[in-house]
Amino acid sequence: MPRRPSRFAPIAQVTRWTSAERGGVDLDLGEAVARVEIARDGAVRVRATTGRALPADPSEALGREPWRASNAEAFALEPAGVALAFDGADGAARVEIDERPFAVRVFDRSGREIAHLLDFAFAQDGAGRVALRAAPGERWFGLGGKTGALDRRGRSFVLRNRDHPVGDRVDPLYHSIPFLLRLANSEGEAARADGMLLDGCAPSHFDVAASERLRVVATAQAGGIDATIFPGPSPDDVLRRYTARTGRITRPPLWALGHHQSRWGYRSARDVRRVAREARRRRIPTDAIHLDIDYMDAYRVFTWHPRRFPDPRGLLQELRDAGFRVVTIIDPGVKVDERWAVHRDGEARDVFLRRRDGSPYSLKVWPRDSALPDFGRPEVRAWWGTQHEPFVDAGVAGIWNDMNEPAGWKRELRAGRLILPLQAQDLGDVVASDPADPKRRVSHESVRNAYGHLECRATHEALARLDPERRPFVLSRSGHAGIQRYAALWTGDTTSSWSQLALSVRMLLGLSVSGVPFCGADIGGFAGWCSPELFARWMQIGALYPFARTHSMWLKHRQEPWRFGKRVESIARAALELRMRLLPYLYGLFCEAEASGAPVWRPMFWSNPDDERAGAIDDQVMLGRDLLVAPVLERGARERDVYLPAGAWTAIDDDARYIGPRMVRVAAPLERIPIFARGGSVLPMRSTVRHVGEIPEEPLVLEVYPGGDAATVVIEDDGESPAYRVGMEARTPVRLRSRAGGRLRLEVGGREGEFGIDTRTVRVAVHGCPTPNSVWIDAVRLPVAGRPDDEVGAIWHWEGGVLHVRWTDAGAARSLEVDPAP
Ligand code: GLC
Repeated sequence: MPRRPSRFAPIAQVTRWTSAERGGVDLDLGEAVARVEIARDGAVRVRATTGRALPADPSEALGREPWRASNAEAFALEPAGVALAFDGADGAARVEIDERPFAVRVFDRSGREIAHLLDFAFAQDGAGRVALRAAPGERWFGLGGKTGALDRRGRSFVLRNRDHPVGDRVDPLYHSIPFLLRLANSEGEAARADGMLLDGCAPSHFDVAASERLRVVATAQAGGIDATIFPGPSPDDVLRRYTARTGRITRPPLWALGHHQSRWGYRSARDVRRVAREARRRRIPTDAIHLDIDYMDAYRVFTWHPRRFPDPRGLLQELRDAGFRVVTIIDPGVKVDERWAVHRDGEARDVFLRRRDGSPYSLKVWPRDSALPDFGRPEVRAWWGTQHEPFVDAGVAGIWNDMNEPAGWKRELRAGRLILPLQAQDLGDVVASDPADPKRRVSHESVRNAYGHLECRATHEALARLDPERRPFVLSRSGHAGIQRYAALWTGDTTSSWSQLALSVRMLLGLSVSGVPFCGADIGGFAGWCSPELFARWMQIGALYPFARTHSMWLKHRQEPWRFGKRVESIARAALELRMRLLPYLYGLFCEAEASGAPVWRPMFWSNPDDERAGAIDDQVMLGRDLLVAPVLERGARERDVYLPAGAWTAIDDDARYIGPRMVRVAAPLERIPIFARGGSVLPMRSTVRHVGEIPEEPLVLEVYPGGDAATVVIEDDGESPAYRVGMEARTPVRLRSRAGGRLRLEVGGREGEFGIDTRTVRVAVHGCPTPNSVWIDAVRLPVAGRPDDEVGAIWHWEGGVLHVRWTDAGAARSLEVDPAP
């Protein structure tokens, strides 16, 4: 790829159609066949390929949610063509199929065309190509964490999983998510979003209106075309439908939302202990320590180095007692070593990829010659899962799946610990099981993009099976559409540079709009030298990444938050303490992602699709609905411009208030990352802790920003087990009504659900509050400031524009009313 156009033969016309089951229609296209279906939520799937039958469907293997078939029935269109229509409670779509030339048009409930698929063409080797109309003024987002601008329009991209250091213009990289979210702003109409997934396991290519201004051309290298259109109209609607198909994240364990400390080069248990001790001594909030390849014995996966890590169980227990979980790296490459049980067993069970001629295949990775499991087969995934048993048993809390594009090399240079890959791997003649039909052997290349995804599936399912009381945590470098179901993604090998700090924001926004809510980049950058200033700025935004891990390469200086001097250490502490304080809010966002697929990080256009200025901004982030984060991404900058969309915004550190839409220039001394809360929001927070297992002094603080109405639900559970799925959670609905003249009413509903919470004190902080004249709880007027009211168990005081009210919370409903001074 890219392919020469001559390989492709266009499909001329529909010669016959027949109604298919599952709300669809089968089309005979002469040398090709197609099926078009409408799901109950209005998603439309178009599969097409040469030959007489559609290829086997990889949906099951990729962990797709079952297609919820509608009862749409095909009918003839006058004067020619065929149509399908469905209108139900969850969604609607109408599809019109042109017979000559063959084209598919999808309309949403309002009758607006949301996709026009045309110029279907196929090559003899199974490759398929389709074009989509792209109207002027539309923005196209998605394709995962691509480099460059967030709006992909005007560029071409290759989606083929590849191990390559991140660079400003490098493409492709580690993961491939062939999903596009289109935002259409047409004059006089409300903005509308819709999405398109080009599913399958093969590499693909997207020309996003680059060669031709008004069309997006998608090419899949094998398996023909398998495209699904997801109607909006809001970006949230698109992701809800996209993740209803590709799967959603389940609640991560709470510790995984804490700070992770990692480094390639924690060479011994002693080293790891020292890092843990320092983090606690210096009060740098940290929940997890990652062990990179150094912990293994000669880089054999599922082993521990006998001398440097002599007592893993003991080490893990000791760390656990100090509030740290341990995540170990596991690469797919299994060292070719007849004397070693894992390899021997794998050989005996024939789990490894082979060459076309049947001979064993190996490539060089850290342990030298390594065999790669054939994850397309369910029994290989199960075998891989079983290998994790001793690790889970020893207390390993999570698995980090690296090098799973898969990565490796043909030739290398070694000098002591230094390993320099010299020549890229060549998997050209490797065959693999077709995940869609595991008995079939196909070229590895044709199913390559599913490799890491299937490994993560195996790992995730193994962790859930081996320790059903704990929620799995898997981190991956590679991935495919739907990876969110099995793993968090990080962006791979970055460099410590200002441009890559800025790039990390765009890459994570790209991943977020592509359905991957749990994502992060190495805080401080992986390779290269990180200056103290860069580290401070990176930590400020990194502490707000959905996945916050400090990680670096072994050849460089150490990158723990205390390695850059006292000033930067306190900046890092403050950043991570803010994360700890935000945990209830952040957790709520992950619960939302689980329930509806909504991203944790959102681009500025997300809740303001009509605001075209917001659509062009990719150096600011919405953390959920209510927090706008404007990181400082330039060296030496001590102020920055921030775009505030319509509404009231309050800086969370000094309570300065602004009214958008407007661009403001705000101060950003090194100690400050500008963050604004939406007027009309209630942010559940708590006081800081050193790790999530510690009991916070203030377990729940409701930070109230008046200036609009808000409704939210505070979700609490044990943060560890899947018991919340059977009702072991506590849900507290909260509503805010802001009234004229600064009056407000906050209603905290009675706690629902079976998760028990001991009686505690809750604090409410109302920001930007004029001196109150009267404060009421449950219609009882509280005595003057500072004097508790025993009847309702509450007390208030006012300081510097913030009203603080504390009450005893035993789970009953409460209301707070504030009347400002006349
Ligand atoms: C890869 C990973 C990196 C890791 C290294 C050694 O480069 O991307 O995070 O530290 O391998 O395992």
